[in-house]
Amino acid sequence: MLLIIIIITNIVSTTYADHIICESIRNNTDNNDDDTFNIFNVGVTKTKILLITKQFFLFEIDIDSLNAYNDKLYLNAQPQSISKKYPYLWNYKRFQDIKDNIVDIRIFIDDEGEWLCFIPLLDYGIGYNLETGEIVELTWFVKVNVADEKSIGTNETYRNYVFRYRQSTNNNTKGIQLNKDTLMDRKVRNSKRVELMYIWANLCLYSENEIFITTYPCHKIGCETIDWGIQGGFVVKERFYLLGKDDVYSFPEKAYTNWTHRYRFDKQQYRSFIR
Ligand SMILES: *[C@@H]1O[C@H](CO)[C@@H](O)[C@H](O)[C@H]1NC(C)=O
Ligand SMILES: *[C@@H]1O[C@H](CO)[C@@H](O)[C@H](O)[C@H]1NC(C)=O
Ligand SMILES: *[C@@H]1O[C@H](CO)[C@@H](O)[C@H](O)[C@H]1NC(C)=O
Ligand SMILES: *[C@@H]1O[C@H](CO)[C@@H](O)[C@H](O)[C@H]1NC(C)=O
Repeated sequence: MLLIIIIITNIVSTTYADHIICESIRNNTDNNDDDTFNIFNVGVTKTKILLITKQFFLFEIDIDSLNAYNDKLYLNAQPQSISKKYPYLWNYKRFQDIKDNIVDIRIFIDDEGEWLCFIPLLDYGIGYNLETGEIVELTWFVKVNVADEKSIGTNETYRNYVFRYRQSTNNNTKGIQLNKDTLMDRKVRNSKRVELMYIWANLCLYSENEIFITTYPCHKIGCETIDWGIQGGFVVKERFYLLGKDDVYSFPEKAYTNWTHRYRFDKQQYRSFIR
């Protein structure tokens, strides 16, 4: 009986906050005064999607909760604060030092495991081994990571997609560019750097519901640049999910691997994407 009461009390006391966080993600509004986007970024391990909010809450979602046929994310996980889930990381001095300057959160998979990496601007980041709880300092991002590059998580070993915004040469519109990067030395620990694998490619709007990825400026091939206000994203089950300010955009990963062919994209609001 006592156990039941304790359990019920726990449920009641956690659900209110959880409910607000889930709802605010669905609403895509921030609990803070500023109207910045709530999701910081998303990392992908071999089995999980880790969605991290700007208030350092973490949703650990099974990869199979993402249905790539109807583009829905069944959010059956409760958010947990990183301070509670990973107290060693949270209380680690270096984490506290960089916490307010983090510009990207991403997961690298290497031969030693899956590392949740926090990348601050112009400083060393840290990597947290999700299995062993080990923390390593990342001394490579300082040189190569620029402020406007953010990752798009994949389950690929050593690699992730990255995106940035570039001003169109044509007029004042800014457009999304995509690339992929890879860990040098095949490990997070002591890696010298992370390197871009290709040249930047432009994400262009081909028609109302089709995109086209090309290294040509979009306007040169009669397309428009795309500014979806992307904050982050992930690739799971061979589909891109790009997280915009109000909407989630999805399209086949093939659009990137099979350049110069157009692909259909879907756009939906968060309350439709997250179930
Ligand atoms: C979410 O949106 C609904 C309807 O607009 C609103 O009533 C509710 O307060 C919002 N919740 C949060 C946490 O922003
Ligand atoms: C910029 O160029 C695109 C075509 O490439 C056009 O659709 C858009 O309206 C232009 N925007 C402005 C502000 O001139
Ligand atoms: C990554 O995901 C793809 C597509 O879902 C799957 O085919 C592949 O086996 C996964 N790779 C790893 C290393 O888990
Ligand atoms: C690239 O796209 C074209 C047109 O959809 C298709 O015919 C071709 O098979 C694709 N190639 C690959 C490698 O997927």
